[in-house]
Amino acid sequence: MQNLDQIIRQASADFSAADDPDALEQIKARYLGKSGQITGLLKGMAKLSPEERKTAGLTINRAKEAIETALNGRRETLRRQALETRLAEESIDVTLPGRKECRGGLHPVTRSLERIETLFRSIGFEVAEGPEIEADFQNFTALNMPEGHPARSMHDTFYLLDEKGNAVEDVLLRTHTSPIQVRYMQAHVEKYGHLETMPDIRIIAPGRVYRVDSDATHSPMFHQVEGLWIGEDVSMSDLKGICADFLRRFFESDDLKVRFRPSFFPFTEPSAEIDVAFMSGALKGRWLEIAGCGMVHPNVLRHVRIDPEKYTGFAFGMGMDRLTMLRYGVDDLRLFFDGDLRFLSQFV
Ligand code: FA5
Ligand code: MG
Repeated sequence: MQNLDQIIRQASADFSAADDPDALEQIKARYLGKSGQITGLLKGMAKLSPEERKTAGLTINRAKEAIETALNGRRETLRRQALETRLAEESIDVTLPGRKECRGGLHPVTRSLERIETLFRSIGFEVAEGPEIEADFQNFTALNMPEGHPARSMHDTFYLLDEKGNAVEDVLLRTHTSPIQVRYMQAHVEKYGHLETMPDIRIIAPGRVYRVDSDATHSPMFHQVEGLWIGEDVSMSDLKGICADFLRRFFESDDLKVRFRPSFFPFTEPSAEIDVAFMSGALKGRWLEIAGCGMVHPNVLRHVRIDPEKYTGFAFGMGMDRLTMLRYGVDDLRLFFDGDLRFLSQFV
């Protein structure tokens, strides 16, 4: 039995030489498999006397255990080596630039909108809204532009088609925010028309509007903010004062160059346009029209059943994208809608 020690030593050496689990299992068979050396010795015990068998069984089993321990030790070593290799292969290069979480920012026109709302709320104006898909009546007719009126052609817009490709009558994408005036006045009369004296209407109404336009100062989709004040003694000087004051506060400049230029709108009389001069950027010193305005035409008041003998009011419609161009000295307003983050992130 002294060759058992030799067998154990040989087995340990063979196991250590195996450098992958498959090879190791093959070597195991040489010792512990069906025709392995240890198995052979155990089988050979049948020929021994009961006395001899007892001692032989003990030694052989101890040898078998020693071989199994060596085998398990090698298995564990190989497993750890495999894991280490994998970890090394899959390791993370901590010197690579990380994937940053991007911080969003408000669109410059949204910034203007928020500023406009804050400034007008501070002087008692409420914020109203209206639908972007508008009825012909509110967009044109109620604003003193009946069908066939030449002023309609300056507001070429997008009409809606049904499944057969025919124009849907009487609806369009609104060309200005002025229809919100009409809707608001209609609702106001509904609510307060029975009173001796109605409370004043004092609102701004911002929103998206659409026209078939495109150049550096015109975009097919743009933003206007309507203003409307109807009461018993509202005058043109209120209009001028409120607009001029708003603009100075919006641009944070007392030296802002603002001019009111006589103009025409079917829904106001008298009418004016407001221009502001660029204070910075490539267009510094150049005038840019930012709004149309005027005293609400008596016919518009009549359309919504407000007595023009008793009530007067002013309205304006400002281009918010134009205000934003001026504020940041941008020379092409279409840049606001190209979705180029290199441009937009400058305003965050
Ligand atoms: C109107 O839309 C009138 N509804 C304004 C008004 C309201 C007058 C109430 C009287 C009473 P106008 O078409 O001029 O007017 O447009 C008003 C402003 O919108 C312009 O001064 C300009 O600042 C802006 N604007 C007009 N078209 C575009 C466009 N395609 N892209 C960007 N801004 C525009
Ligand atoms: Mg105009």
